[in-house]
Amino acid sequence: MAKIVIREELKPKRVIALMSGTSCDSIDAGLCDVFPDLSCKLISGINYEYPEHIKSKIFQIFSGDATIKDICQINFAIGQCFSDACKVLISEFGKPDFISSHGQTIYHYPFDERIDNISLKSTLQIGESAVIAENTGCDVISNFREADIAAGGQGAPLVCFADEKWFHNKNIAIQNIGGMSNVTVVSDSCETFGFDTGPGNVLIDYCMQKFFNKPYDRDGKIGFSGKICDSFLDCLMQDEYYYKNPPKTTGREYFTKQYIENALKFAPQNPEDIIATLTALTAKTIASAYERFVYPNVGINEVVVGGGGAYNPFLMKLLRTYIPKHIELKKHEDYGISSNFKEVMAFAVLGYCTYYNIPNNLPSCTGAKHRVVLGKITKHV
Ligand SMILES: Nc1ncnc2c1ncn2[C@@H]1O[C@H](COP(=O)(O)OP(=O)(O)O)[C@@H](O)[C@H]1O
Ligand SMILES: [Mg+2]
Repeated sequence: MAKIVIREELKPKRVIALMSGTSCDSIDAGLCDVFPDLSCKLISGINYEYPEHIKSKIFQIFSGDATIKDICQINFAIGQCFSDACKVLISEFGKPDFISSHGQTIYHYPFDERIDNISLKSTLQIGESAVIAENTGCDVISNFREADIAAGGQGAPLVCFADEKWFHNKNIAIQNIGGMSNVTVVSDSCETFGFDTGPGNVLIDYCMQKFFNKPYDRDGKIGFSGKICDSFLDCLMQDEYYYKNPPKTTGREYFTKQYIENALKFAPQNPEDIIATLTALTAKTIASAYERFVYPNVGINEVVVGGGGAYNPFLMKLLRTYIPKHIELKKHEDYGISSNFKEVMAFAVLGYCTYYNIPNNLPSCTGAKHRVVLGKITKHV
């Protein structure tokens, strides 16, 4: 691999980072200052809601019920929505040095399937960067995952790179609970590694919509009012994904509507019990992933939780009961980092590295053959 030359002396940069995860609950936009040591300070963050009809189009794409025309159009429409989110921050704080946009994942296929020996491993994040550049007048860095896949990786998890910088000198598991759940393990006794533990909120959110007509279980209220059904939980825990060795990543392509509808055949009658059990599934799959893949390699003494799941006290309570008592359970807030904007901050750092030509994937997490500079740059003149 060619030696990567860093273009210029590193300076702090002001970045707007944009992220919309699998939950599709909002476009998270954060104005961040990124420093040469790759630390990051969030100046201001907003959760910008997609317009309702755009959101339902995205869910139509998730359910596999969309045409090429829909995907073509929504790429530009999401670019517009991401621009609108940026403009809120720009109107208050002025233009950043550049924008770093993760985009909206609409498909992630990390499996090494082949046709005529040609790999089909792929991922697709949309939200047209040319639209964002045009509407904001800023350069845009986007499309972070592709280069890692091209280098033989899964294109995920990418946030591990920032976790390693921010949480070094610790033996720690950094657990994100978004739509999916992913962990980064940082320790001085081994290379940083990370993987998706399984579903985060995606199954809970689906059933909240189905049974309660609400987008999510706010503050875990429904979960607290239900009873965990052990037989349903045991049945869900049998899924082969949880037994697979890392590196591994997953998404809505696996935990589909059909997946959950099939699973619901084994569910208890009471919808509150279903929510309680699905919340237990998230907590238990995290704990069992640690038992299988983390504790045998490294003795961690702390788990720090981020993502929307950190705001669900029922989920946090269950996690506390499933994780060994000697391990401290914290939130990102304990480190002065917002659980809500943590991923955004990570993408500000990843964009900063792209800007300066600094390799920003971690092959030990993604399975890539080597380090690469992730991201593509769309210039605005
Ligand atoms: N106050 C809360 N109570 C319970 N769950 C919450 C709360 N806030 C957020 N969540 C959950 O977190 C999800 C969003 O998490 P997020 O980290 O943004 O995921 P993603 O990265 O997939 O967008 C919501 O869909 C919801 O399930
Ligand atoms: Mg989100």
